Formats: sequence, structure tokens, C-alpha cells
Amino acid sequence: MATDTDSLFQPKEAFRRTAHVKSLEEYQRLYRQSLEAPDAFWGEQARQLTWFHPPESIREVNEQAADFAWFVGGKLNVTVNCVDRHAKARPDKAAILWAKNTPGEYETITFRDLAHHVNRLANVLKAHGVRKGDRVIVYLPMIPELVYSLLACARIGAVHSVVFAGFSADSLRERVLDSGAKVVITANEGPRGPKSVATKAITDEALDGLAQVTSVLVARRTPKEVPMREGRDHWLDVEAQKHRGVCPAEWMDAEDPLFILYTSGSTGKPKGVLHTTGGYLVYANTTFRYIFDTQPDDVHFCTADVGWVTGHSYLVYGPLSTGTTTVLFESTPTWPDASRLWQVVDDLKATTLYTAPTALRSLIKEGDSFVTKSSRKSLRLLGSVGEPINPEVWRWFHDVVGEGRCPVVDTWWQTETGGILIAPLPGATPAKPGSATLPFFGVEPVLVDEEGRKLEGNGVSGNLCLARSWPGQARTLYGHHSRFVETYYARFLPLYFTGDGCRRDEDGYYWITGRVDDVLNVSGHRLGTAEVESALVAHEAVAEAAVVGFPHDLKGTGVCAFVTVKPDFLRTPDEKMVGSLREQVRHVIGPIATPDRVVLVSGLPKTRSGKILRRMLRKIAGGETENLGDASTLADPAVLDELLTKGLPPT
Ligand code: PRX
Repeated sequence: MATDTDSLFQPKEAFRRTAHVKSLEEYQRLYRQSLEAPDAFWGEQARQLTWFHPPESIREVNEQAADFAWFVGGKLNVTVNCVDRHAKARPDKAAILWAKNTPGEYETITFRDLAHHVNRLANVLKAHGVRKGDRVIVYLPMIPELVYSLLACARIGAVHSVVFAGFSADSLRERVLDSGAKVVITANEGPRGPKSVATKAITDEALDGLAQVTSVLVARRTPKEVPMREGRDHWLDVEAQKHRGVCPAEWMDAEDPLFILYTSGSTGKPKGVLHTTGGYLVYANTTFRYIFDTQPDDVHFCTADVGWVTGHSYLVYGPLSTGTTTVLFESTPTWPDASRLWQVVDDLKATTLYTAPTALRSLIKEGDSFVTKSSRKSLRLLGSVGEPINPEVWRWFHDVVGEGRCPVVDTWWQTETGGILIAPLPGATPAKPGSATLPFFGVEPVLVDEEGRKLEGNGVSGNLCLARSWPGQARTLYGHHSRFVETYYARFLPLYFTGDGCRRDEDGYYWITGRVDDVLNVSGHRLGTAEVESALVAHEAVAEAAVVGFPHDLKGTGVCAFVTVKPDFLRTPDEKMVGSLREQVRHVIGPIATPDRVVLVSGLPKTRSGKILRRMLRKIAGGETENLGDASTLADPAVLDELLTKGLPPT
């Protein structure tokens, strides 16, 4: 493991020359200014956007009530910023480069095309009764209609809620219900690697018996025919033909909602994180410009799915609001083999690549030759997101992928933060592998102990909080503001609590150590242990379940479920039961949540008051046999022997 200071990677000279911020001193000066005079700083950033009416005040903040408003009184439309102004200035510039699932197949969508498609789809939505403020669920694979859908909603002031196309029918249904959407946009199917996701069939199952949804718009990704329900289901291409490609942009208030994105929390129910128009867009735009150090002819390749916040902010809104060409990648990094990403980079001449440590780990495993046989000369910057990046993986990214030429930006943020909060500025900040380095402008990280006492100075570890509002922060959990207050503000008021643990080293650099709550970070995706447990206990055979994370070579964190089975099912062979329980979670939540290990036990470790000792389970699942806590607190000390026999990871 690298120590804090043994490897400082200074910004590359060639990169620094054209960078927006060219030295650490310049960053520090701007950072100080952004804290001392936030209104001036954010007012200046807001001027990068086109407003129908400029903001009257920059921010109104009330931490006690967790009420935040930015750019108050400002009127704008996201699509004027992401589409119209670029379609006017550079109509033939590529807005989207679509890399289809089949290797070598690409499609270019210019800003002119984008304007046409977005306006037409906006008219389709209107014709299906969608009005300003209405929610629209988008359940699409990585096809251009996905981006059009987001922007079409924004055009008319509807609120999009994208559900990742890997989620199950149950998960989709839950989100449709919570959001109250009347319209769902999906596709007949979604090819992905060697498989295809049956998005329409899953949608049908999710909407079964739900009168709430009156229109399902179906994009035709392949020639495959799918059952269409009379009166409810409509082919999107047929609908689009009915409308012209002109639709006036709705005047939105800066604080009008732009989207809801569901994410996992520490309870069984996903939360609908709500972002608003002005603050979110200013933040996505500003962070994208500085952290990816945008240059006019950049081709930005973000490998994340638009179903996650990374895809929202750094595949769609950040790039398009700056007029940057963005790559939409339909396939996976390892299909048909581990050279796929580099092939796309070379074919599309991608300049900035933004991916996740979990993807890098799966590529490292396949060997360097898949990388080195490609050119990658177009690349000038590499970015990482989603989970802590192991220093070895950082070095591989830097040395092998970037040939030591490209800066690596490790970016820390969350669905709730809207954009990146801690990351290096590539022309200014010396990097340390494994550290997200220093806060972005206007961001004030604070570390506190369990009692909420602020940990001053450097060389300290604690709970990572944020001391002041930033424009991109989520405004509420849709329909559950008290849960918003409870989750993020109640514990360390007036600070925002991130749920992450963190160390600030002797140089003031931040090192995220992982979640400190009951949320797992599996392959860079958030998963609540309670969600997986509820999926398991919904199985007829399960009496009780406790889910914990354990270190996993590829996924970062793996999912381990300890389960007790009801007496009637004790005769089922273990292997069959484990298979059935894994399938259960897959079915209820989606493949990403499938437990890596299911351990069938006759009892869970509990205190006499009935509390499950998760810490003990976590340690055992992680292979620890010592310091498991005081076994005498166990109601039934005998369970420990069984756990130690069955629960340790296989060697
Ligand atoms: O634990 C942190 C981890 O991912 C969590 C946020 O997950 P999600 O809302 O799904 O958003 C992921 C993409 C922004 C955080 O609380 N995380 C994210 N980025 C990093 C990270 N941990 C360490 N380093 C990062 N760069």
C-alpha cells in the first residue's frame, strides 16, 4: 500500500499549458475565493449558461429545514443550454457518438439531429398528456432515444426518472409507483454483449394491473416483435412521425425539478433523489469544465450507464451543456473481449475517458496485451468514479492505459451531490494514487467523530460531512422530505452527512475509506443491505436473513447473505436452496444484487435483546477469525461455531 507522500504525480507539463487552472497556487487562490465570496463565484459560473431571465439571488440556504434554493428567480431551459445553442453555433458537430453493441458499428448524431429528435419526442410526450411537472419513467438501454428522452422531458418541464435497464420488474414497478408516472418509455429489447435485455417484457410485468400508467412508448432497437397492449403501448418511431421537430422550450424556474433518480439507502426502500434545474445544470457544467478540463474538440467517453447518476451528469448534462461530443456505449468493456474499450477509444478518437475501478479491475485480469495492441494516442485525460480506486489499479490506469501521458482524476461524489465534490484539477493538483485529493470550488469537507465533534487539522479520520450547500446538491427525496432531513442532516446538523468514512492526510488530501452505513458499494453501484434482506425474506423458505459486504477482488465489495431456513424447507438440498435464493434476489432487485455467497445457518448471531451482530458477520464473511466481539453477549453462543465453520470465505 502506498503511503501518503511516497508518490506524488505532478501535473504533466504538456497538459498544464492549455489547462483551465495551471497551478496548485491558482487552484488554492480560486478555492479560497469560492469560499469567501460564493455568490460572486457561482454567479460567474451561472453566466456560462443561457438564461431566459437571470437569477435574482444566488442562494437561499436553511440547513435546519434542509431547504436549499440556488439561482433564485432565474428562468432557463436545460435543452436551450444542452442543444439549441450548440445546434445554432455548430450544427454539424457531433453531439452523440453512439457505439453500438456490435463491434465496429457506430452512428453520429449531430447537434442539428439532436435538436430535431428532442423536439419531436417532446411533442410526442405532450400528445400523450405529459405536462410540466409530470414524471416520466425511462427504462431504456444505451440507445440514442435514452438521451432524447431525458432532454425531451426537460424541454417541456417534465421530470424524468431513469431506471437502469438492469433492474427487475419489481424494482421498476416500485419506482413507477413512488414517482406517480403516467408514461413509461422503453424499448422492445436491449442488446448488451452476447445477451439481450427484454426491456419491454420486463416493463409489461412491472406494469401488470397498474392503471396509473396510460402510455408506454416503445423504441424499436431491433426488428424483434413484442406484444403491444392496445390503447397503452405505442411504437416510438410511429408516434414521432406524427410530429414536427419544433417544440418551444418551457420556461423553467431554477428550482423546478429536473429529475428524480432512485438510489439505495439504509432502509429497504430506494429513495427518489430529486435534482432541480438551475443549480444542477450549473454544477454539472462547472465541474465538467474544470475537472475534465474541456477543450473545444474533446470527445468524452463516459462508460457509465445513463441509469446511474454518473451517466446523467457526465455523459449527458455536463458534456452537452458545454457543447462537448459525448460517446454513448451500448456494450460492455469485456465484450467480445477485453480490448473493446480501447477499440472504441481509437475508432472515435476519444480524448477523455471516465470509467470505474471495477471495470479496470476486470480488464487488468485479462492482461496488458489487450490494451497495448491499441493506439490510445487520442486520449489526454483519464477519470475514475464510483468507489475507492486501489493504488495499484490507479497506477495501471496511469502507466498502461495512459502511458504515463494522461493525468488521472479520481472523482468522489454521490447521486445526492449531483456532481463531483472532491477531485484533482488535472493541470494543477499533484495526484496521489488512491486519493480523490482536494475539494472542488465552493465545497467545504468536514470530518467529524461519532459525537459530531469537528476534527480539526490534518492527519485525522472520521465521518465525511459537507459544511455548506453547493448548487448541485439534491433538494429532497421525492415525496419524503422528512426522510431527506433525517438521512442527511439530522445526525450532524448543520452539516450534510455523506455516509462515507474518510481520512485527511498530512497534506490535507482526502482518502475515502468507504461507507459507514448499511450501504454496500458493489462494482461501483449502491446497494442497501436491507433491500437484499427484504428480497430474501420474501422467499417462502426464508425465516431470517442478514446481509453484509466482504472484500471482493473484482467488485470491490461482494454480497454475502446469512440465511436461516424455515423448518418445512430444511430437507431441501443446500445447493438447490442457495441457487433458489440467489435467483430470488436477482428477480426481485436485478442481477447486480445477486449475492456472491449465501450461507445457510441454523441461527444468526444475536444479542439477548434480539439485535443481529452484523459486525461479527462482516468480519467472518471477510475471513477474520479473531476479534469477533464478545461472544458472551450472544443469546446463543453455539451459533458462533457454526458461523466459523460455514461462514469463512472458501480458500
Ligand atoms: O462511497 C462513495 C462511493 O460511492 C458512493 C456514492 O454512490 P452513488 O450515489 O451510486 O454514486 C456513484 C457515482 C458518483 C459514495 O458515497 N464513491 C463514489 N466515488 C468514489 C467513491 N468512493 C471512493 N472514491 C471515489 N472516487
